Parts: sequence; C-alpha cells; structure tokens
Amino acid sequence: MPKKSLNSNLHKASQAKKDEFYTQLVDIEKELKHYKDQFKGKVVYCNCDDPYESNFFKYFASNFKALKLKKLITTSYVPSAIAGGQLSLFQIEGLKPDGKQPFRIEITEVPDIDGDGAISLDDVEHLLKHNKNTATPLKGNGDFRSEECIELLKEANIVVTNPPFSLFREYLAQLVEYDKKFLIIGNLNAVTYKEVFKLIRKNDLWLGYNNGPKTYLVPDNYEQDNIFVGTDGRKYAKMGNTGWYTNLDIAKRHEPLTPYKKYNLKDYPKYDNYDAIEVSKVSEIPLNYKGVIGIPVTFLDKYNPGQFEILGITDRDPDNQYRTKMYTRKDSPKYNDLNRRAAIKVSGNLKPVYARLLIKKIK
Ligand SMILES: C[S@@+](CC[C@H](N)C(=O)[O-])C[C@H]1O[C@@H](n2cnc3c(N)ncnc32)[C@H](O)[C@@H]1O
Repeated sequence: MPKKSLNSNLHKASQAKKDEFYTQLVDIEKELKHYKDQFKGKVVYCNCDDPYESNFFKYFASNFKALKLKKLITTSYVPSAIAGGQLSLFQIEGLKPDGKQPFRIEITEVPDIDGDGAISLDDVEHLLKHNKNTATPLKGNGDFRSEECIELLKEANIVVTNPPFSLFREYLAQLVEYDKKFLIIGNLNAVTYKEVFKLIRKNDLWLGYNNGPKTYLVPDNYEQDNIFVGTDGRKYAKMGNTGWYTNLDIAKRHEPLTPYKKYNLKDYPKYDNYDAIEVSKVSEIPLNYKGVIGIPVTFLDKYNPGQFEILGITDRDPDNQYRTKMYTRKDSPKYNDLNRRAAIKVSGNLKPVYARLLIKKIK
C-alpha cells in the first residue's frame, strides 16, 4: 500500500475514535495536590496508561514516597495510536522492544538510587532498568475490561487516569461495579448522560477542582481545528470542556455557596413546562427561594450536598416528576425542541433553554 494512503487510513481510524489525548503533568499536579492525604497506604492503578508515555505514571512513580503509596500498578493498551515511543518518557532498551508489547508495571518502592535526597524520574528509570520484577508483559492487549486487568483492578484501592473518551460510560460503570475509589478525567458533557447523572444525583460521583479548558498532547497524525504545534514541536489539542470526575472526598464539596440576590418574580421566570424557576447564572441563585430551581450544569463545580439537593435534569427526560406539560404540534412547530428541555416564555413566545439541573435548597 502506498505510504500516503496508509497514513490517511491511520489518520481516519484515530480520528474516528479520538481517544489519544495525553494529559500534561502540570494538570495532574494541579488536581492531585488536593487529594494527597487520601493516598497514604493505598494501591493506585492507572489502567489506561502506557508507563512509558503516561504522565500519570510519571506523577505517581516520582511521588511514590511523598504520597506514602503501598503500590503503583500501570497497564498499557496495545492498539494505542502512539505506542512505539512517540511521546516516550524513557527509552529503555530491551524492555519495550517494538512498542507493541502491552506491559504491566508494579512498583512497591522507589529507592533514591542516585542519593540526591529526592525521588526523581532518574530513580524510576533506574528501577525499571534494573529490577526485572517491576515490568511484566500482559497476556492480552491491556483492555481495561480484560480478565487480567480486572484482577489488577480488584487489588487496587484508587484508580486514577484519563480513560478513552469514547468508552467513558463503560469505564465508569466498571469502576462502580467493582466499588472503587477513583479520580478520572472525562468530557464534562458526560454529566448529562443518563448513567452518569444518576450517580451524581445519588452523591456517588462529583466533580473535582480543575474543570474547563485544558490542553492535551496528541499523536502527530491528529488534525482538527483545535490542534496546534507547541514550541517543543509536538502537537497539542485545546479542549474546552474536560474535567475531573471523582468519588474521593474534597474540601471544596463542603464549602457553601454564598448567594446574594433575593428572589423576585421579574428576574426569575417560572418555566412553562416545569414546576421550577429559571436561574441562568450560578452566582444568581436567590437566597430566599424554597422551591425548585433550574440552573446550568456548571453548578456542579460549586455543589455542596449539605446545602443543596439535586432533584433532576431537564434534558431528554420525559419522566421527570417536575415536568408539568408535554407540547404538541398545535403548541408550536418546534414542539420537539421544547419537549427536550425546559422552556420559558419570552415576549409571548416559547423558548427552550439549555440543559438545567433541578436543585433545591436544603432547609
Ligand atoms: C485519553 S487517552 C489518555 C492516556 C493517558 N491515560 C493520559 O492521561 O495521558 C486514553 C488512553 O486509553 C487507551 N485505551 C483505549 N481503549 C482502551 C481500552 N479498551 N483499555 C485500555 N486502554 C484503552 C488509549 O489508547 C489511550 O492511550
């Protein structure tokens, strides 16, 4: 096959799934600093992480002692588009001969071999080179759903990674099934997925600290509008809407919002099809309103379960108990759009608003 068409096929395949977005160390450090105490004595598993390329591995290996980890396990996945070392942190001859061999790496200590008083990547590299027990080839392809990876998952206390965006629902469901603590990156649009929202409403899942725009390293063959070449010559993608999903407790979740506006009929219209009022900005939640409030999903970034209760979401949910009406063609030619979400009347015309969480203040 001519080189050009092979490349374009590879390009199409990776574009179709778009799973290769590599998290930058700075983003991992910025988030993980809030959870440090929770890692003491724990087995951490990064199950979508080629140890040679993942900054999650780099972070936990170099902070192994500081976090007082019991064990770090990482497994790679073979069909990874960049397997082979494009983004390699280390080049270790013999250990990863062609980049096609999925590995499991298990670390139970990282000695300060160079004696400089700090654990660095050099110490980790030395350990990987000289302690043959740390790296073991996997039997299968490293799929997080494979039997051998599930066995490792069972052993883990906390799972931390950026899993494939295309498998987010399935990935999260597996963590819940095995009752794991986790801190994972995902697209914030996933908040409205039925399965994800159910967990959020039950307070089994919440958002971490750094949610919103981030930049990820991507393979050379990725081409999209949001991709640019960095000063290091590598390709990066700007993503506006990714964040951290977790079930680890965080201080932020206990900080109360301090509303300043008072409820009044003019500023807070009632929806035409929901028994709730529209509040279009989180900062404008009326402090004295006792009924149901519709609020943008960005509220989750400020959500304190001791202060508010999440009752539902106005997004493709015809069974929502706060819905008061379903429209037909007679009401509006746009009745389908109106039924999908909450609607307000503007100058006599019905207008659907974006997805809203339905929340209520806890007395
Ligand atoms: C969004 S990338 C993030 C990579 C790395 N965790 C990081 O944060 O830099 C997701 C990774 O999961 C890998 N992957 C895709 N499907 C997988 C599967 N079924 N099991 C395990 N890993 C998978 C992809 O190849 C990709 O490297």
